[in-house]
Amino acid sequence: MSVQKPMNIAHRGAKGMAPENTLAAFRLGLEQGCEGIELDIHLSADGELIVCHDATIDRTTHGKGAIRELTLSEIKSYDAGYWFGEQFRGETVPTLGEVFDLVPASIMINVEVKDHVDEQIERKLVDFLRERGRLDNVVISSFDHKCVRRIKLLEPNSKIGLLYAFNLVEPAAYACSFDVEVYSLHPHFKLVDSELVIKAGHHGIAVYPWTVNEERELLDVTALGVSGIITDFPGRLNDLLAAK
Ligand code: G3P
Ligand code: MG
Repeated sequence: MSVQKPMNIAHRGAKGMAPENTLAAFRLGLEQGCEGIELDIHLSADGELIVCHDATIDRTTHGKGAIRELTLSEIKSYDAGYWFGEQFRGETVPTLGEVFDLVPASIMINVEVKDHVDEQIERKLVDFLRERGRLDNVVISSFDHKCVRRIKLLEPNSKIGLLYAFNLVEPAAYACSFDVEVYSLHPHFKLVDSELVIKAGHHGIAVYPWTVNEERELLDVTALGVSGIITDFPGRLNDLLAAK
């Protein structure tokens, strides 16, 4: 039986080959043929939506400090690329707006909300997507399921996804138990099996496992018929899918 081809989603951009969550990484993902990108967001001290995985810029720039305590211009003054390779020197931490300017509307954007200081980021994100007219091909996910529920209540046209890294008894049933529509489940890839994919499919819920990088694992997860695969190596996934 043939299974659907998974959407190829570049994790923090093509994170395996470029500095994560930079425009260079997203550009590379697009060049390698990704059909979606995943990124993480925080809010800066002056209320900008900042694309960064950690709550601080310590690991991914030569600067230091919590994003919540830095202004955009402070964050922009640090290099976010050189640590990965000299050729990436000059990359900066992007705003969500800069990423949306770069990525065509045909590419799905999975915005993962990391900042849980308060609910300000949820309103900012909804306003941003409304202003951009980009509610359609965007999935908002979070490990904080109350956060994405609040976003769905704020903007009923948004698509929300539930991230999880531990075994839920019945993930599809859990998603269906929400009082708002859940668009997708985002399990750690080791938690995915065909039962989950089938049950989610029955309820029209997409399944986007993360973060799948090794060839064997990419093939195994593809064979389960998932809706999409979040990977640091979108080029590798495309090569494997083309060879099938
Ligand atoms: O959204 C999938 C994945 O990015 C979740 O984990 O830590 O890489 O943000 P993390
Ligand atoms: Mg993430």
